[in-house]
Amino acid sequence: MEVVIVAEPTAAGALVADRIERLVRAKPNAGIGLATGSSPLEIYRSLIDRHRTGRVSFAETSMYMLDEYVGLPEGHDQSYRTFLHTELLDPLDVPSERLFGPNVHADDQQVACAEYEARLAASPIDLQILGVGSDGHIGFNEPTSSLGSRTRVKTLTRQTRQDNARYFDSIDDVPHHVITQGIGTILDARHVVLIACGEAKAAAVSSLVEGPLSAMFPASALQLHPHATIVVDEAAAGMLQLAEYYRDVHINRPAWQKLPDLANTGLQ
Ligand code: F6R
Repeated sequence: MEVVIVAEPTAAGALVADRIERLVRAKPNAGIGLATGSSPLEIYRSLIDRHRTGRVSFAETSMYMLDEYVGLPEGHDQSYRTFLHTELLDPLDVPSERLFGPNVHADDQQVACAEYEARLAASPIDLQILGVGSDGHIGFNEPTSSLGSRTRVKTLTRQTRQDNARYFDSIDDVPHHVITQGIGTILDARHVVLIACGEAKAAAVSSLVEGPLSAMFPASALQLHPHATIVVDEAAAGMLQLAEYYRDVHINRPAWQKLPDLANTGLQ
């Protein structure tokens, strides 16, 4: 696991955007997995800046949803499809046909999950962006999710619905169900990059990086991934026991390790 500690959220977003820019320059048709919520917003802002200044084009990339609410009407302003269009895809000029996700409006949601799995199996994600919930969820794999789980319908915990109530009029409006990539699905991405900023994420970051591997803390499953990068600001790094070691590793990274985002793409 690569842990990178930076001063503040803007630097965290820029660092992840650097990795994505490098990936897309080397592989213009890369597949990028997108999280929603507040954590990735600095990444998205930085990518939009790079697109606007002509540094990188996303014309050939494909984007993949990590999760989506079940039960919101199509086009709802809090659906994750709408969020991703507003916060990233429209400014990047990526059309809706290039955003793939589970069909949460299908009559048979199990079939919709299997179809999304089949799509991801046919076109593995090159880089999956993740945030972490206060209870350790990644995607919407809540505590006790199987570490081998695949895309499926999940029920949100009350804590997660409470956390997300800030986007709705009240907690009663937050859906109970989602379709989420499973933990096994997330682990199939070639590179996973989790971003977490602020003191409120410090306990979660400590558990996912240095805690035991446990279904009670789903993000700890990233310890199993051969190429996981955890990008945190100083505040979110506040409870890491080995923070000094991670800083040393980053500063002294040998030249042969400098392009880890290309390691599993067949491009090196
Ligand atoms: C969002 C997602 C969630 C969030 C997590 C953190 O697509 O899958 O796992 O990443 O709930 O949310 P924020 O970033 O709002 O703290």
